[in-house]
Amino acid sequence: MEGNLRILVTGGRRLEGQVKISGAKNAALPILAATILSNDSITLRNIPVLRDVDTMLSVLNTLGIKVKKERNGEIYIDPSNLKYFEAPYELVKSMRASILVMGALLSKLKKARVALPGGCAIGPRPIDLHLEGLKRFGAKIDLEKGYIEAETHGLKGCYIHLEYPSVGATENLMMAATLAEGETIIDGAAKEPEIVDLACFLNKMGARISGHGTDRIRIEGVKELRGTIYKIIPDRIEAGTYVIAAAITKGDVTVSEMNPSHLWAVTTKLREAGVWIEEGESEVRARVLEKLRPVDVKTLPYPGFPTDMQAQFMALMAITPGRSIITETVFKNRFMHVDELNRMGAVIKKDGNFALIDGVESLSGAEVCATDLRASACLILAGLAAKGDTFVSGICHLDRGYERMEKKLAQIGAKIERIE
Ligand code: UD1
Repeated sequence: MEGNLRILVTGGRRLEGQVKISGAKNAALPILAATILSNDSITLRNIPVLRDVDTMLSVLNTLGIKVKKERNGEIYIDPSNLKYFEAPYELVKSMRASILVMGALLSKLKKARVALPGGCAIGPRPIDLHLEGLKRFGAKIDLEKGYIEAETHGLKGCYIHLEYPSVGATENLMMAATLAEGETIIDGAAKEPEIVDLACFLNKMGARISGHGTDRIRIEGVKELRGTIYKIIPDRIEAGTYVIAAAITKGDVTVSEMNPSHLWAVTTKLREAGVWIEEGESEVRARVLEKLRPVDVKTLPYPGFPTDMQAQFMALMAITPGRSIITETVFKNRFMHVDELNRMGAVIKKDGNFALIDGVESLSGAEVCATDLRASACLILAGLAAKGDTFVSGICHLDRGYERMEKKLAQIGAKIERIE
């Protein structure tokens, strides 16, 4: 049973070698949703093998879209039979990002019925910005029996100002705008590399989007989108996690097939902490050559420090003697890993959206439980540095977003295995 699976990490090994980074989960999910908009088939490359990707493929299947995983890791998608417009509760509940099909469905089929995502482990995550934005296109939106029901006679381009640069809302609205009539401007848009990747994919299908990567995205609606072949960007969060694995084990690891500029907020902080970072064109080498120092971190929308790296960075600060403060501004309740780190001997106090970390010389292995995706990576990193054995349960979260993590870590010298 998947629920009984645990990861056993025996700490104390210095990691050394090279790790290849997979395609970005957070680029793959919206790009898969965007295939709804196409008239012909699409081939996607560098799609990571992850549970969240499988969930999105199931959502596409329920809409009538044919999906085929090729042997070389590519995914072939044929949306010509798209006819259903409902993303059911079973799927949305297991992955909130299922709501990313809403904008595309509304644009293509003029109708969408998507289950309301509930709360999740990292706190309440409203979707008001998605819905308010879709209303600006003239869509009629109702909430019925736990479902969002959206309808339109044809979306009309509009001006949208996002009060907060929500990644998902920017993506949903960008997809809605591609087939809308006339011009749409999204002001206050998110600037994440995954937004840029989605826009590049849509443009390759024939969309007319400009300004992606800035806070003002302009979309000129087109009549239809055509098939294409597209390779998605590397996963910057996976890359950052392995860079921290090098730092936390005082090792020497080259993280390759990634984009170093996407990770600058993280590598800047690691340099401040004393980690030796060398950047190549598509790789980062991380080494520890001196005693590390505590540094403060505040999570922010891109290009700020990513909330998806907060838990992993906290694991590193937990074993860096001295006081550091981590401020979480994106998801205010994203501190579930704190109590688990403390069970391993860390000294961390939560105070609202601050975590005060008094770094210790070493952690000790323990039985801990991961409650979300990045928390699971954080606990594995802590286990790599701890004395003795750490058993991490809640591994289903890890498999949502890290491709073969224990295999990749074992390749660079970690003692780690999956056990019943
Ligand atoms: C995406 C990422 C997730 C990452 C997050 C922030 C995917 C699949 N997931 O999630 O890994 O942690 O960006 O970088 O790409 N908010 C509202 N109203 C809304 C939408 C969001 O208040 O309508 C709030 C959220 O509650 C949260 C903040 O805005 O506090 C950021 O959320 P958002 O940027 O939308 O994150 P996601 O797209 O859900």
